[in-house]
Amino acid sequence: MSISTIVLCAGEGTRMKSTQSKVLHDLCGKALCFYALKSALELSTDDVVAVLGSRGDVVRQEIEKLFGGRVKFVEQREQLGTGHAIQQALLQWKGTSSTIMVTYGDAPLMQTETLSRLISSQREHRSHVAVLTSAAQDPFGYGRVIRDDSGRICAIIEEQDASLEQKKVRQVNAGAYAFDGEFLRSAIGDIPKSKKGEFYLTDMISLAYSSDVKGAGVSSVDTEWENIAGVNDQQQLAEARAVMQQRINISWMKQGVSMIDPNASYIDFDVELSGGVVVEPGVYLKGKTSIGTESSIGTGSVITNTHIGSRSSVLPYSVCEEAYIGDDARVGPFCHLRKDTRVESSARVGNFVELKNTTLKNGAKANHLAYLGDAEIGERTNVGAGTITCNYDGFTKSKTLLGDGVFIGSNSTLVAPLEIANGAYVAAGSTIVGNVPKNALALGRARQHNKENYAQGLRERLQARKK
Ligand code: UD1
Ligand code: CA
Repeated sequence: MSISTIVLCAGEGTRMKSTQSKVLHDLCGKALCFYALKSALELSTDDVVAVLGSRGDVVRQEIEKLFGGRVKFVEQREQLGTGHAIQQALLQWKGTSSTIMVTYGDAPLMQTETLSRLISSQREHRSHVAVLTSAAQDPFGYGRVIRDDSGRICAIIEEQDASLEQKKVRQVNAGAYAFDGEFLRSAIGDIPKSKKGEFYLTDMISLAYSSDVKGAGVSSVDTEWENIAGVNDQQQLAEARAVMQQRINISWMKQGVSMIDPNASYIDFDVELSGGVVVEPGVYLKGKTSIGTESSIGTGSVITNTHIGSRSSVLPYSVCEEAYIGDDARVGPFCHLRKDTRVESSARVGNFVELKNTTLKNGAKANHLAYLGDAEIGERTNVGAGTITCNYDGFTKSKTLLGDGVFIGSNSTLVAPLEIANGAYVAAGSTIVGNVPKNALALGRARQHNKENYAQGLRERLQARKK
């Protein structure tokens, strides 16, 4: 008893009207075809084979990135239909498994458990093929499940070939099949050419029915509509995304995550959350983001590939990319943490602060209006409003190193490379171009001087000029 799966990913996807291959469109942070391939890998004891065609090189690269060497590839050079795709697969891949499952790369919502039932149906009934069906509200575009007088499935008829009577059938082909391996290999060449000149895999159903002697040519499993929706155009992609997002969000809420509005929380497939996390509306959590217990993410924030520790707050409208935020930290509102930023425990980043490749050590603060790039900010150091690191001279990037307990006065310009040692002070409004020793006060600005009573005379002269 062995199982292989062929996943069809070769179609042109013309209905998407996009320059990208259909199966590579993003669905909750993964390529559309990821989901079908993942189920296939979970259920197969032998090979998982992806059929590639249109833009096959890019699709192959992406699948290799997702699954390493676990998926095998075959090529369908011309896209002459789903039946032709399997014919090509069986010419290039010598699959000898007793059960060969076929699924479509554009059906991301089919659950592993449903497909497992399909395989069991094929095995139990010893059928030539077990087909997955579903009752559609609007069956338009799907293959209709046709039954004989005794109610047995005898054919699947595609939309364009269906009679008016057949079009009324609501039960449709979901696009997943568990074939008896031997039957598939022996009958795949018998698929007739359709009116459109294509070879439909769905014609294997009538072949199984008519070659059947014992009455178990075709068996079937029925599933909810929500599991089967295939993605052919942008609207269907958005509908599939809504279902997938709902599944992801429900699963996190079951694990103790609070969502103020789950319909407005966008969480990618790979994100990891902990119990007690609060997600406000309009939040995007992308890529491999992970968030520790009791942390909260404010409205409108977009967090990508970022680790956030426990009990930390990301206040509204913050953008974090490839960053690290420790425990008990607070960032935002309106901050931008760029690649390789580390905000360590209890550190604070306030509004309109941009950090790039910068570490804020424990308890450090940059609370207002600052740009810190390629910098290390020591423990408990305070960076005043309007501080800018000049880390780039048009050719190279240089580092700014601030020690522990340093105080940078507001509106300071720190010209890198630069080191300011522990406990030093920088006076507000300074331009600092040289290192500052431990505990020193650095003044990098013109000395202020006041001209006594000058303002009164100035006002009188200006008034006189106006007349
Ligand atoms: C297909 C089924 C239909 C079913 C529906 C479920 C056929 C003939 N029709 O229709 O009965 O109700 O799915 O969603 O199978 N592909 C290839 N090579 C090709 C053509 C297609 O690899 O030559 C791939 C596509 O990339 C896609 C999948 O096969 O992933 C299905 O093809 P698609 O054109 O989307 O079929 P549907 O019209 O949706
Ligand atoms: Ca489809």
